Amino acid sequence: MPLIRDYIAEHERATNLGGDAVRALDRGDLAKAEQLLTAMGAELRCHWQGEENGLFAVMGRDELFAEHIDPLVREHRELDELLRTVDVTDPVDQSRVRAAVFALHEHIAKEEDSLFPASLTALGGDEWDASMQAWHAAHPGHAMIGE
Ligand SMILES: [Fe+2]
Ligand SMILES: [Fe+2]
Repeated sequence: MPLIRDYIAEHERATNLGGDAVRALDRGDLAKAEQLLTAMGAELRCHWQGEENGLFAVMGRDELFAEHIDPLVREHRELDELLRTVDVTDPVDQSRVRAAVFALHEHIAKEEDSLFPASLTALGGDEWDASMQAWHAAHPGHAMIGE
């Protein structure tokens, strides 16, 4: 499924940026860390918009899935808040970034191991179309992988 392939590629880019940001913090390169966290936020905001307005919206019509989706959306908002307000010179924020990058891996595992596989059997053609449209709206001027 092309959409899922794009989501997974976005996860990989976001976790790579997060990992690089943590390594930049480790060596005290705060300017680099800040730049990487800004790029991570930009990558994730498009990703979240695509997920929340597309796949999550159509899957969330089913109560059973909504129960799992609501906490994922809360996690999006929490990480967004951190990435918008982070002060890389503050040791407390530095440890929040480390924890958040670790938590992002767990968040992504819930999507890639549970929600995405479930979507493949749960959704019909119209729902995939709506999910793809949301992805395109969230990534103006970009093509999907292989498109
Ligand atoms: Fe997510
Ligand atoms: Fe995701």
